[in-house]
Amino acid sequence: MTATLSVEEAGHVFATPAAYTDETRLHEALALLRRESPVHRVEVPGYNPFWAVTRHADVLEIERNNALWLSAPRPVLRSAEIDARLAEQRARGTGLKTLVHMDDPEHRVVRAVAADWFRPRAMRALEVRVRDLARRYVDGMAAHGGACDFARQVAVHYPLYVILSLLGLPESDFPRMLRLTQELFGQDDDDKRRGGTAADHTAVLADLLAYFRELTAARRARPTGDLASEIANARVDGRPLSDLDAASYYVIIATAGHDTTSSTIAGGLEALIRHPGELRRLRRDPGLLPLAAEEMIRWVSPVKEFMRTAAADTHVRGTPVGEGESVLLSYPSANRDEEVFAEPFRFDAGRDPNRHMAFGSGVHFCLGAALARMEIRALFAELVPRLENVELDGDPAWVATTFVGGLKQLPIRYTLR
Ligand code: HEM
Repeated sequence: MTATLSVEEAGHVFATPAAYTDETRLHEALALLRRESPVHRVEVPGYNPFWAVTRHADVLEIERNNALWLSAPRPVLRSAEIDARLAEQRARGTGLKTLVHMDDPEHRVVRAVAADWFRPRAMRALEVRVRDLARRYVDGMAAHGGACDFARQVAVHYPLYVILSLLGLPESDFPRMLRLTQELFGQDDDDKRRGGTAADHTAVLADLLAYFRELTAARRARPTGDLASEIANARVDGRPLSDLDAASYYVIIATAGHDTTSSTIAGGLEALIRHPGELRRLRRDPGLLPLAAEEMIRWVSPVKEFMRTAAADTHVRGTPVGEGESVLLSYPSANRDEEVFAEPFRFDAGRDPNRHMAFGSGVHFCLGAALARMEIRALFAELVPRLENVELDGDPAWVATTFVGGLKQLPIRYTLR
């Protein structure tokens, strides 16, 4: 991409995993689309066509109208080849079906199975454990001797540990789960994927399903009071979940629950390093931490998109969108919208109000938002007061993805108290 990017070229970023590894250029493209073509038809080889929606107000309006805008059958952007494979699996009843694929009334009933585990009361019960873990990871940084790759050695492990503990998986299985969930989300990145084809994607899913089928059987035989036991023994409309539906539930929680938060933690530290005044401000006034965590979530926007499909002919900002056509909701773009955020490209640790869209909105609003906020606050509450100085120790690198991701490498040098 160059400074003379055309609107047509800008529209291609959504289907170009590598575009998300260069945030400056990515945001140039998104700003151009917000200005010139906020409801933009994207037709790129290898993908079914869609409309890219880049303004905050439009993303919000679509998310809130879940009777018109459905998650099925195309909740996220995939290649046409994978879309076709998933449609076949759906028709045979063999594919994953998670909350993000569902619409009401099914969505409401299935979401209720795990909802209590993520409410503020449950979060308060978990807080001591999360703080303790945060301390362990920051102590671990001290043990690395003043330099580490913060993304790989700290940010990636801590949220995974929290979410898999909540599910109730044994710690010895965490590395395997890390690999499988990264392969599932990282299919577009050379460092993470098993292979790039639809068959590789299916193989990763098959491995996850096999693991979770065993888990369901074990928790049905002997419930252990964890979230996995809740899911394995749940009844929806009077019937237990099928093995596949239970596995889909664990997969959405395990996958949604760590890459998102770890990307925010790594990106949040990078933002503080690049804005040392904001780091000093946070050190002086720890009361700002909840606002700073919110700003990190806006700044990083680790979920790049979700999609919705129109249930009837309609319009978005005056542009006609036909029944059965899909829109892509660009969260990184909505979160830099000049109409909503004062100086959207400034990292402001005390930004208030901060009406970011990084957790979505409406009935699919992120189930784990309270948990993610608590984890991010706990980590920085521990790290910031102990960090005497910190600087980059090499180039950061971002995951090539069109869906979920952020920094995969953040080499830093630091002095910890
Ligand atoms: C859904 C973002 C952390 C679990 C979502 C959605 C977004 C999102 C954008 C879709 C919302 C929509 O369609 O309107 C994030 C971000 C996170 C994060 C930015 C971290 C900073 C977590 C965590 C969990 C989690 C820690 C733990 C379980 C889920 C689940 C859904 C979801 C289960 C599906 C909800 C539904 O469709 O009803 N998240 N998430 N997320 N998230 Fe998160």
